[in-house]
Order: sequence, then structure tokens, then C-alpha cells
Amino acid sequence: MTPLHLVVLAAGKGTRMKSSLPKVLHSAAGLPLIERVLRTGDRVSPTSVVIVVGHQADAVRSALQSRPDLQFALQEPQLGTGHALLQAELALAGATGTVVLLSGDVPLLQPGTLQRLVDHHVGTGAAATVLTALVEDPSGYGRIERHDGGIAAIVEHRDATPEQRAIREINSGIYAFAIAPLFDALRRIGSANAQGEYYLPDLVRIYRDRGLPVETVTLDDPAEILGVNSRKELAQVAQALRAARNDELMASGVTIVDPATAYIGPDVTIGPDTVIHPSVHLEGRTTIGARCEIQCGVRIVDSTLADDVFVNSYCVIRDSHVESGADVGPFAHIRPQSHVGENTHVGAFVELKKTRLGRGSKAGHLAYLGDADVGENVNVGAGAITVNYDGKKKSTTTIGDEAFVGSDSQLIAPVTIGKGAYVAAGSAITEDVPPGALAIGRGRQVNKPGWVEKNKK
Ligand code: UD1
Ligand code: CA
Repeated sequence: MTPLHLVVLAAGKGTRMKSSLPKVLHSAAGLPLIERVLRTGDRVSPTSVVIVVGHQADAVRSALQSRPDLQFALQEPQLGTGHALLQAELALAGATGTVVLLSGDVPLLQPGTLQRLVDHHVGTGAAATVLTALVEDPSGYGRIERHDGGIAAIVEHRDATPEQRAIREINSGIYAFAIAPLFDALRRIGSANAQGEYYLPDLVRIYRDRGLPVETVTLDDPAEILGVNSRKELAQVAQALRAARNDELMASGVTIVDPATAYIGPDVTIGPDTVIHPSVHLEGRTTIGARCEIQCGVRIVDSTLADDVFVNSYCVIRDSHVESGADVGPFAHIRPQSHVGENTHVGAFVELKKTRLGRGSKAGHLAYLGDADVGENVNVGAGAITVNYDGKKKSTTTIGDEAFVGSDSQLIAPVTIGKGAYVAAGSAITEDVPPGALAIGRGRQVNKPGWVEKNKK
């Protein structure tokens, strides 16, 4: 095995995105484009990874902070793809073996294709291997000129003659190079072309002139090299990525009722026999167990659902745990650091924040439980709320097992409702309620007979 080094080009401006965000940081199907490319690159186990940055270099660098293994090479100004690769020379000083060049804006490339490129390149001992594709509409791409079957040159669209423009085999912009002759040859590239840029594809002609072998690998599916240059292409690429992820999940035993409207991120896992209804968004590090049902319009972010959970329509669940057999929604909002216990029921218009709801407990309608620790088999009535914020600090409400919190009561924290205690409906509770006690905290009702008649003029 010869060492393999990855270089990812990400210095370009991405003018057509019309964005203040660097193009490679735009997300498609739950991951920034560059992350996607790096994950594909990781699958061929590179010894080192160099990202060529330029336009908004700092933004790209800081977005990739979590990867201390990456090296960055600055390309300033951006004078073309040949010039871009040359900037990686220092980072690769003393390196031997193969350089694989990827574009930060080409996220659909499959790991299997990359492996095929590397295997062919190493197997044939080529100086360069170009990944090509046959496409219906080659406009905009560099065309592959062949002589006697072998690749002779790549001609950029803008520099091509009408005959060359008729060629349907295009350059994907993805290559493998032997390191030894690479950087000296890059310095030979000129900029006498329509764009006045140093074109990396010119290396093909330089190598052919020197008698160095240049190989090609042709893609089975040209869709893999779809690049993102505009918002429209970003949406197309995102759709393709989602479809691929949905296919994997369905193959593993998940029912997706309408894959066109299932938005399931790359790091989400789902157990078998779970049913995903239309317009569901599952994002971040979300894990869903087996036999769950996620009804339409639900959004779940960075959360864990155990087996047999039912989430009714239009719930938002974020950074929380839901245990097995729980039944949530419709229209519930489960905010960060909540723990919804086994066989609990969280009903319509209930909001939880940093709250534990113990096994078998119920908050069926219109409740707010914030900073609360709720025991098992507790009943929280309609409209009950924890008053957890006094304008300065948050305070905790503790509710013991089997307690019953009557409708429309306010639990003014910090406060504790003892085990098995009852809170009468409509109470404002400011003091702890002992276990087994009934607390009534409301004004007494006064009826004034005949009052209406008396006050009539
Ligand atoms: C390039 C190829 C073309 C190929 C096409 C495939 C060249 C000259 N042409 O064209 O043959 O068919 O890709 O998509 O290489 N970049 C830098 N620094 C620069 C210029 C570009 O880092 O100075 C980066 C861009 O950010 C991008 C990649 O290189 O990630 C490709 O550059 P781009 O200008 O998009 O090249 P194309 O015109 O698409
Ligand atoms: Ca491009």
C-alpha cells in the first residue's frame, strides 16, 4: 500500500450562490458540503488531508475546527485550480505515494467510485488518473480529448472549438496523481486561456508531452459528480442525498410513507418497523428505536426515542430522551434536557423544558413544565404550569410519585409537591405540600343572589 493524501479544493468564491457564507459551508441534507466530501474522502483512509482555502478562509477553517487532523493551505489570490493544488505543496513536503484531489463542492461522489479511481491509478502506475463521465449536456465542463483511445488533453468549455464542444465525455474535476512529478509539473502550467487562470487539467497535456502515463476512470453514474454552483443545484444535490439515505433506511426495515417529504439527516438511526409519515424532519444525532410511529409534521433534533414510541402530528422534540411506550402530541414541544419516561403521555399543547416526567405520568393538555422533576404515575391537569422564572433566576419544581395536580394550578417554584398529594384545581401553590395532603390555594367563591336583577337600572 502506497500512502494516500487527500487535497480538497475549497478556495473558490462561489459567486453564483450570491451568499455571504462560503459555498462549501452551505448545508445539503443536514451536512455542510465540505463535511460530506471529507466523509467520502475518509473512506479511502488518507494519511493526510489538506484543504485549500482562500475566499473566507477563516470561516471555512473555523467550521472544521472539530477535525484537528486537517491541514490548511491558503490560496491567495485564487488564480485557478492548478494554482490551487500547488498551494498544497508545503503541507505535502516529503510525502510519497498518491494525491487524490476532490472539490469541496461536489458532494455526491460515492466512496466506491473513489476507491475505484485509487485502485486503477495505483494498479496502472499512472502519473495521473482523471475521473471522467459521459453526459447528455456537457456544457460548462472540460472535455476529454482522446487520441488512439488514450486521453490526450482536457479542453475547458470556454476554450473549446465547436468540434471539441461536441465531445460528451467530461472532466469530473476529481483526479489521482503520483506525488513525485506533480508539483514541478504544476509550475509549468500557464495561464494563456480564456479565463487567464492556471488550469489544473492542463497537466494532462504536459504529462503526455513528457511521455508520462495518464489514465482515466469513467463513472457509471454521472450524477455523482454534480457540483454545487447555485442554490438550485444545492437543492438538487440535497434531494439526491436525502433520497439515498431514505433508500438505505427503507432497505433496513423502516417504512417511509412518502420518501419525497422525509427529511432524515445522515447521522440519524431508526429501528425496524418504525413508520415515518409525511413531512417529518429528523436531524442531528437523533436515534429512534423499533416499532415507533412518527406522525406527519414532526421535527426531532439530537434526541433519542426508545422502542414503541408514538409521536403524534406537529411535535418538536429537541435534545431530549423519550422512553419506550411513551405517547407524545399532537402539538407538543419537548425542549432541551427533558426526559419523558416509559409509558408516559404528553398531550396536546404541552411544553416541557429541562423536565423529567417519570414512568406512567400524564400531562394531557395545555401544560407547561419547566425545570421540573416529576415522579411516576403523576397526573398533571389541563392548563397546569410551573412558574419557574421570577425574572432573575430559574427555580425547580419537584412532584412526588402518584401526586395529582389539578387543572389550571400554578406551582410557584421553588416548591415541592409530596408523594400522593393533591393540588386542588385553580390553586396558586407557593408552599411545599406534604405527602398525602390536599392543598387548596385559591380565593373562596362568593355567590350574591339576585345581584344581576338588583343592579339593573
Ligand atoms: C473544473 C475543471 C473542469 C471540470 C469541472 C468539473 C478546471 C480549470 N476546470 O471547472 O475541467 O469539468 O471542474 O466540475 O479545473 N478552486 C480553488 N481555487 C481556484 C479556483 C477554483 O480552490 O483558484 C476550487 C473551487 O472552489 C472549486 C473547484 O476548485 O471547488 C473547481 O473550480 P471551478 O472554478 O468551479 O472549476 P470549473 O469551472 O467548474
Ligand atoms: Ca465548478
